Amino acid sequence: MTSSRIPGFYKLSIDERRKQLAEHLGLDAAAAKLLAEPMLDEETANHMVENVVGVYGLPLGIGLNFQVNGKDYLVPMCVEEPSVVAAASNAAKMIRASGGFTAEADDPIMISQIQLCDVRDTVHAKKRIEAHASEIIVACDQAYPSLVKRGGGTRGIEVRILEEESTHRPGMLVVHLHVDVRDAMGANLVNTLAEAVADRLAELADGTVGLRILSNLADRRCVRVKARIALADLATDRHDGEKVRDGIVSASRFAELDPYRAATHNKGIMNGIDAVVLATGNDWRGVEAGAHAFASTKGAHGGYGPLCTWRVAKDGALEGKIELPMAVGTVGGTLKVHPGARLALKMIGTERASDLGMVMASVGMASNLAALRAMASDGIQRGHMSMHARTVALGVGATGEQVDLIAAELAESGDVRAERALAILQRLRASGGFSGIQA
Ligand code: MEV
Repeated sequence: MTSSRIPGFYKLSIDERRKQLAEHLGLDAAAAKLLAEPMLDEETANHMVENVVGVYGLPLGIGLNFQVNGKDYLVPMCVEEPSVVAAASNAAKMIRASGGFTAEADDPIMISQIQLCDVRDTVHAKKRIEAHASEIIVACDQAYPSLVKRGGGTRGIEVRILEEESTHRPGMLVVHLHVDVRDAMGANLVNTLAEAVADRLAELADGTVGLRILSNLADRRCVRVKARIALADLATDRHDGEKVRDGIVSASRFAELDPYRAATHNKGIMNGIDAVVLATGNDWRGVEAGAHAFASTKGAHGGYGPLCTWRVAKDGALEGKIELPMAVGTVGGTLKVHPGARLALKMIGTERASDLGMVMASVGMASNLAALRAMASDGIQRGHMSMHARTVALGVGATGEQVDLIAAELAESGDVRAERALAILQRLRASGGFSGIQA
């Protein structure tokens, strides 16, 4: 890959964008061709889920300008919401100018839970299971030898007493298996392990087996990203860099203090993350669940808080950091069957799940920065208006050049209703061309 900077990309036709992308990424002819086709055929879809009646489409855009740990990435983003791709690309450009994103990832440790019920002596049961930890770990590795061959395997166990026994009822324990799943998302894998050792654990606890399933709070598989932005790059045409920086820091504090704001703050982060998770065929509900469960202790008062926070750096620049669990894979699952997901992964250019997670968290951080910068300066609606106007224009049947003309007129007037878009479209059609538009 040459560079993730492609100036003027947004001005090109879709075909020209595809050509540029293929050139930048060195895609072979088959991969480049796939971009222009429906990426999932009905037959494959029919094998993926039940009661299939069609294949649902979403736009696939490219996040530009990303540089993570010194490496450039062109990032496939699958999302229905206007502005997400442009905003993330724009923020990535600002961050790139100050050295790009610096990221690190934990080992890919997933947690598998085995619930143990009807335990009459929880303290004794916990001790007994802990004393047999090596036996359980060996049993897990024997149940999945191919994982061990790939360098993964069960690294440890943890026993937690959830409810002490009482005179009224026996207690409840949960055993966590900590499993290094390497480049898989790992859900199926760790579920298999939980099922393999559950009976033995119940025997050791003198209890009964309950649920055996992964935890989506994958807090042993976190990604952390940092970035900084120089004041000059934060400035807008109406607001200087210092004012924008202070507005962003204050917005960050707002999210730390108020869960109502933190939910929206994190939604903006997930706009970017989910788009890449979806494009690469990963389980976005799992990533969402993990992100929000992780955020539930990040507030200033210990409750729900922001995943990404911003401060003034010593030299006056803006600096930010994000941390969240990133349970995503580059092998197995949807990737096996969905050619579009495989292509998206090829675009990102890594086979390492940890690299993918670091890119995703960087996109989330960029999305957050873009939203806070807009709100701390001109307000979100100004930028949103023109994108929304395009959606409205498409919605009333505009095509080709009509879309831009109608969107420009709607945004200029500040009236972005479908009725107005339709009136402009009718006027364009009646004039037999695209000239003679009045604001
Ligand atoms: C909209 O999809 C996302 C924002 O609401 C995020 C935020 O408020 O930080 C703009």
